[in-house]
Amino acid sequence: MDVIHTVGELRARLRAVSSIALVPTMGNLHAGHIALVEEAVRRGKCVVASIFVNRLQFEPGGDFDRYPRTLAHDCEALAKAGCHVVFAPDENELYPEPQEILLVPPKSAEQLCGQFRPGHFQGVLTVVAKLFNIVAPHTAVFGRKDYQQLFVIRALVRQMGYPIEIVGVETKREPDGLALSSRNGYLSSEERAAAVRLSQNLKRIKGLVESGQRDFDALCASATADLTSAGWRVDYVAVRNQSGLAFPGPSDRDLVVLGGAWLGKTRLIDNLEFRA
Ligand code: PAF
Repeated sequence: MDVIHTVGELRARLRAVSSIALVPTMGNLHAGHIALVEEAVRRGKCVVASIFVNRLQFEPGGDFDRYPRTLAHDCEALAKAGCHVVFAPDENELYPEPQEILLVPPKSAEQLCGQFRPGHFQGVLTVVAKLFNIVAPHTAVFGRKDYQQLFVIRALVRQMGYPIEIVGVETKREPDGLALSSRNGYLSSEERAAAVRLSQNLKRIKGLVESGQRDFDALCASATADLTSAGWRVDYVAVRNQSGLAFPGPSDRDLVVLGGAWLGKTRLIDNLEFRA
């Protein structure tokens, strides 16, 4: 496995490669990321994983500075998973001058996480577009845990004409149901034990909608009340249709329940897709 830090060397390494599957990450890899790499191995002759903590997508006062950087450990895990190339640029390499050209996210990015993380999806789309331009993959693999991110990246590819197949991989979970996330590492042991409450609430809403309830506002308000009573600060709990990430109409069957909430100083997100 080659570990490459510059755009020039990466382009030279990939020049003769015909089938590239890209896994963009911010590092601090866990089993969820490794599942993305394994999917990429099934889909491309050459798997490129990028590791870059993208300042542009962190809101002011966010966790950019404390986001864990664990390159040596990440490279070991990537090599084991069958990755061929790691692209780990420093900030100056990816943003050699102030990045004044930024992508404007679609309307669907203004709600849910976008409402609470100003500039987040603009930063995500900008770096992902840049990675697509540098790597020129035919496939790119993302986690379904970042459901809204995956949604806006699919829009990016459609609307900007990238010839890239976007693949979403199922969320990996701890045995108690907590979705794997690099941010779980911020949780104290008490918080870790309490953290499953978000996915439990989403599961409850999913079950109730599957059994015929369609008063989405009431269901989400009750989940918010439950989390708040347990000390969480809830950004949102919402049911949306999968097609447009819009409030479901009477004929919408393919749905997703999503939540974003703070446990202490840690912001967790999760979602469950279902048909009802
Ligand atoms: O999901 C992530 O880790 C990041 O948002 C991504 C897609 C690598 C862009 O920085």
